[in-house]
Amino acid sequence: MPENFYQETVEAPESPFDISLRPPAFSEFHGQEKVKDRLILMVEAARQRGDVLEHILLSGPPGLGKTTLANIVATAVGSNIHTTSGPQIEKAGDLAGILTNLQKGDVLFIDEIHRLHPAIEEYLYPAMEDYRLDIIIDSGPSARSIQLNLPKYTLVGATTRAGVLTAPLRSRFGLVNRLDYYSIDELCVIIKRSASLLDITIDQDGAAEIASRSRGTPRVSNNLLRWVRDYAQVKADGAITAEVAMKALAMIEIDEDGLDEMDTRLLETVIYKFNGGPVGLSSLAVAIGEDASTIEEVNEPFLIMQGFLQRTPRGRMALPAAYLKIGAQPPSGAQEELL
Ligand SMILES: Nc1ncnc2c1ncn2[C@@H]1O[C@H](COP(=O)(O)OP(=O)(O)OP(=O)(O)O)[C@@H](O)[C@H]1O
Ligand SMILES: [Mg+2]
Repeated sequence: MPENFYQETVEAPESPFDISLRPPAFSEFHGQEKVKDRLILMVEAARQRGDVLEHILLSGPPGLGKTTLANIVATAVGSNIHTTSGPQIEKAGDLAGILTNLQKGDVLFIDEIHRLHPAIEEYLYPAMEDYRLDIIIDSGPSARSIQLNLPKYTLVGATTRAGVLTAPLRSRFGLVNRLDYYSIDELCVIIKRSASLLDITIDQDGAAEIASRSRGTPRVSNNLLRWVRDYAQVKADGAITAEVAMKALAMIEIDEDGLDEMDTRLLETVIYKFNGGPVGLSSLAVAIGEDASTIEEVNEPFLIMQGFLQRTPRGRMALPAAYLKIGAQPPSGAQEELL
């Protein structure tokens, strides 16, 4: 057996900053109330029955707390969590290694589950439904299939793109738990919690200023907080006020809606280079020199949510708000829609 046959659960590299701020329990996880209530209920029901938790699918844009929730769920049921991700499972043997290492009740967290290889996905179906693994060993005439029974475990899948999940895979999860962007008030609470963990002095207005520029995303809030802290330490007396936050964020070109340089560039490109669109994702990606999937999964959802951009069957189109944002004149018909 090759040495890396069982690929031990490698977490995505994260800074210690991130880890120390990750809420360890439901009680410290603020926001996403609907998803949280459902998960708490599922955990409680499983606990009362003395049963293993059902499989769970978490979807939503990056940085909203999918990995965090997976860890909280595992802690809540008192189980070990094994973490891997779709692209990491390259061969059926990798999956077999991971699955056969599980103990009863363990949580297997598969991040980016939509990027699982189709052939591997096939192996996962019986492993999810009947806790059984059918693997084929050898090839040619001596090929034979062996069946392994697995302990009952909980698969927690996370995806930034629930839409591209295959129907058979999606149907093997009970519910799709969709995480949404956070409100400014929710982010304020998260920012103040992070600040207190990191021993940073911040007032309400300072937190609100960072929150409103965080694109509805706690990970962005925490990153901006870290930057503003540095700024406050060097340029002010260390305390974060609205004014300090504003100046700090202006310095890294985060505007009052949380748009960064890449977002602005994207809007400018659609408007100036492609005449407002529609423009296909791949042309857009080439024009701004960014990876198409990053645009689609990171930049676009927020721009769409904010009403700057629209996805149409023919491509991406700039909405009137996008023209105003970059200081251009919206096309005449569009101006009326805006009023
Ligand atoms: N509700 C929350 N309360 C406090 N902090 C949060 C919350 N949600 C997320 N965070 C913080 O945001 C960071 C990002 O969360 P997490 O890694 O769980 O996101 P994710 O959805 O898994 O993102 P990705 O899709 O990129 O993997 C974490 O480090 C955590 O500290
Ligand atoms: Mg994650």
